[in-house]
Amino acid sequence: MEHTTPWWKNAVIYQIYPRSFQDSDGDGVGDLNGIVQRLDYLAGLGVDALWLCPVYRSPQDDNGYDISDYCDIDPLFGTLADMERLIREAARRGIRIIMDLVLNHSSDEHPWFIESRKSVDNPYRDYYIWKPGKDGHEPNNWGACFGGSAWKYDPQTDMYYLHLFSPKQPDLNWENPKVRDEVFNMMTWWFDKGIDGFRMDVISQISKDQRFPDGEKHGLYGNGGPYYVNGPRIHEFLQEMNRRVLSKYDIMTVGETPGATVENAPQYAGLDGKELNMVFQFEHVGIGDGPLGKWTTKRYDFMQLKKILSHWQTGLDGKAWNSLFWGNHDQPRAASRWGDDSPLSAKMLATCLLSLQGTPYIYEGDELGMTNAYFKDLSQYRDIESLNAFKELTGAGLISADEMMACLALRSRDNARTPVQWDDSPNAGFTAGTPWIQVNPNYTAINAAAEEKDPDSVLNYYKKMIALRKAHLGLVYGSFQLLAEEDPQIFAYRRTLAETGEDYLIACNFSDQEAAIAIPADFAGARCLIDNYPGSAPDGAVTMRPFEAFVLRK
Ligand code: GLC
Repeated sequence: MEHTTPWWKNAVIYQIYPRSFQDSDGDGVGDLNGIVQRLDYLAGLGVDALWLCPVYRSPQDDNGYDISDYCDIDPLFGTLADMERLIREAARRGIRIIMDLVLNHSSDEHPWFIESRKSVDNPYRDYYIWKPGKDGHEPNNWGACFGGSAWKYDPQTDMYYLHLFSPKQPDLNWENPKVRDEVFNMMTWWFDKGIDGFRMDVISQISKDQRFPDGEKHGLYGNGGPYYVNGPRIHEFLQEMNRRVLSKYDIMTVGETPGATVENAPQYAGLDGKELNMVFQFEHVGIGDGPLGKWTTKRYDFMQLKKILSHWQTGLDGKAWNSLFWGNHDQPRAASRWGDDSPLSAKMLATCLLSLQGTPYIYEGDELGMTNAYFKDLSQYRDIESLNAFKELTGAGLISADEMMACLALRSRDNARTPVQWDDSPNAGFTAGTPWIQVNPNYTAINAAAEEKDPDSVLNYYKKMIALRKAHLGLVYGSFQLLAEEDPQIFAYRRTLAETGEDYLIACNFSDQEAAIAIPADFAGARCLIDNYPGSAPDGAVTMRPFEAFVLRK
């Protein structure tokens, strides 16, 4: 089995938000040379590949998700030579590099857009989506993800361009074959530089319904989602990309696919390999969203979490391959959202993440048990989404300023973007300068240097759990069977790999209360491979302690 399956199925992937990982030159922003400095740490953790959030040349309106040159590195992060060194140095340690590819839109400062906006007959005009106004208004009522209308008026040609995100992120026109040629050539160029894959930003949104109809109104704007999420030509475009580029290399791809369901995921990432290798689905991170979308202080519903994760586990088995994640640079901190900020809950989450079927993605700092920043003042935030949402929602009287601050403290993307906590020196060893965003003050207690030394730290638990997964292929490939479905505290499941006769039972107590679990009879006397409460040996009917998690092997 090891030889017949591609490397990325058995890989553990670590996501780096380069801005916040390690600064090497004292400008307060993390950079590529900083990542090189920490490669030994990452090798020690046991991860196989790094997914880097965008480091291309960019005006940084959305921290690099607005690219003005796809074939160069932003000076904030270093040079192309630094990138080549990172690829080489990582490879020397057996670590692969996956880049973040933003293809739904570019920056408005990209030369294509600068040309495009000049005149209606410019050769680059159709690289973007331009429409005349309707009765002096926007072409339709779609709202942008970062607030306001999704259309911006451009006086130069008296027309509007589409931007599903900020006005500085105009959407590329995938209908234009020249755009596809440019994109595919650029991807080839990167693969020839030796990178090992791409994470593809909001890739499920690149094909728009060419009628551009109004969307159903939610709050201030219409929801265009039904007309561009999983749009009419999406699979045709991805199959063309696969034929012309992806199929030629031993690489991996993971699509960021809002709107992915268990039913449609195999179309994007079926085992036939015609499009992508994996997708990021958002059902579990969307639990609890309310009338104002993600801006809520409601805690997630555990029964829903269990149901969603189980559905993806069984639903994709034999059809597609799951990507597993608790958080990323767009989500709050895992230990804060799914746990209670405690190291114990962080370890429980590690146990679960690393014992499900699929490829696990660890977001930087989660292996240390980093928590939300819980900023108290709006001036501490940097994120365009958070700042715009505050202005728009409080401005429209949809929420009070205090309530919105409480929502931001729990849900803002900046919670995951505070610098990685390396040690207890000033600024947590992240920078010798002033960090671009404040370091979480809890760095004196939660940091890598202290955790390296402490055998019971979250970091050392992650190392053990990664090694355990690697040593037990049943935890990677085995089928999933949910146990104790109605239990309101425990997520328990079996993983079974018939070929090798492996059989595991994993139990995770997601609550801060004790919980009784009945161990199935055939697991009586089973070996406990790991437990986040050291020294315990579950047997028969056991009481799980708050946030306890263990893996048993028959
Ligand atoms: C994705 C990225 C997010 C970015 C957005 C627009 O969702 O993960 O960080 O803001 O796309 O590119």
